[in-house]
Amino acid sequence: RIPEPCALVIFGVTGDLARKKLLPAIYDLANRGLLPPSFVVLGFARRDWDHGTFEQVAYDNAKAHARTPWREEVWARLAGNIKFVGGAFDDDAAFDRLNDTLNELRDTHGIGGNAAFYFSIPPSAFPTVLKQLARTGMADNEKCGGWRRVVVEKPFGTDLASAKALNDLVDDVFTGHDVFRIDHYLGKETVQNIMALRFANSLFEPVWNSKYVDSVQITMAEDVGIGTRAGFYDATGTARDVLQNHLLQLLALVAMEEPTSFDASEIRAEKLKVLRAISLPKDIHDGTVRGQYLQGWVGGERAKGYLDEDGVPADSTTETYVAVRLGIQNRRWAGVPFYIRAGKRLPRRVTEVAVLFKKAPHLPFNPTDVEALGHNQLVIRVQPDEGVVLKFGSKVPGTTMELRDIAMDFQYGEAFTEQSPEAYERLVLDVLIGDRTLFPDAAEVEQSWQVIDPLEDAWKGHKPEPYRSGEWGPRASDEMLAREGRHWRRA
Ligand code: BG6
Repeated sequence: RIPEPCALVIFGVTGDLARKKLLPAIYDLANRGLLPPSFVVLGFARRDWDHGTFEQVAYDNAKAHARTPWREEVWARLAGNIKFVGGAFDDDAAFDRLNDTLNELRDTHGIGGNAAFYFSIPPSAFPTVLKQLARTGMADNEKCGGWRRVVVEKPFGTDLASAKALNDLVDDVFTGHDVFRIDHYLGKETVQNIMALRFANSLFEPVWNSKYVDSVQITMAEDVGIGTRAGFYDATGTARDVLQNHLLQLLALVAMEEPTSFDASEIRAEKLKVLRAISLPKDIHDGTVRGQYLQGWVGGERAKGYLDEDGVPADSTTETYVAVRLGIQNRRWAGVPFYIRAGKRLPRRVTEVAVLFKKAPHLPFNPTDVEALGHNQLVIRVQPDEGVVLKFGSKVPGTTMELRDIAMDFQYGEAFTEQSPEAYERLVLDVLIGDRTLFPDAAEVEQSWQVIDPLEDAWKGHKPEPYRSGEWGPRASDEMLAREGRHWRRA
């Protein structure tokens, strides 16, 4: 799978995402031999740089954050193909220069008419850049004699109405199949493995339903705080930041029916059905918890409270933790709660999906011998130690019939010698190839907002519950599960 000759144009190339993820991903792709021989990275930003300055910046960042071993000869081959155009987004002359540069590169670097435009910029700048691409004809496949694609980073809007407006805006300039919405969780190896696990094996699918599953828990815990992103984060909160996208996508992959093929449209159709079937708790305040971190200790280091973070208003009611209990109204999942939690400044970084099975209907053992038995569990660990764990009861060695839970542990690092590509590496490659399988479409994005909007409405004017940095969220979150006779898994 090597893309056709092409250019990758990155708007906002001086930002964090471009420096820490995109430029290193390009190096890694080159190092793995996955880029076409005629390939150009064209950076665009409001800087007074020449090609050489940008090339040096790209070199420094790629070297600092690359996943694959550093090889100067790989970079040397890329270096001559790294170009820069400086200017503001509302500067017509700068976009004319960008267009001219792409046309010149067609002759000098053999990239043909193919280009992907990566929007690594705030959504507020999207309309201006889209207008420029339309005005100059740069988005026009026919006129350019090749494919023109656009890559949009989340957040895809802040609610249903703004997401629709954004989708309409992009659709005015690009056709649907040239639009790639990045949800980087879908580029993670273990997330893709959910589909492999479910649909390539015969072991799991027969018990993957309400007859055998007691509940599903999805956890995305981060030990970090909001860092330097106060402006973005305080206007956003955890539900919009990660629940609307990463976590609902995980839920969709866990709960969807088998697609008729591994084709993008088939997978999207199945995910969409799940998103449509999601039900919210009857009483939103009873079935959700919002939290905000106080000061505390994380990983042996002192952490400030959210309200003391630079740039956060002292009376902010933005959540840094969210837990929700969702249902899925279809035959497979009726009655099975999906508990989802995500938060910052939790004890450690871990993302996992745990499927908890119902307890055996009858245990022909001495009750005291089975006291320690919990639910059988299948845990898909997305990060950091990627793998799958199956937990079940086993006899404790000895002369009695005592039973205890044990874990069968598959770790990627041990089972495979192949290294997992970084999510962005995989997704950038897919954009250049034109494979949309791992990109949510407009309908999924809009449907996800239909889940979030009523929650946000109900939460308006309510303060989040405080929790100490370094603890597993507010007590109310444990109480929410306890009311239903359950508890959060120790992730
Ligand atoms: C981003 C969120 O989408 O995902 C961040 O905006 C979050 O707030 C990040 O920290 C987590 O990504 P990962 O890949 O480190 O789990």
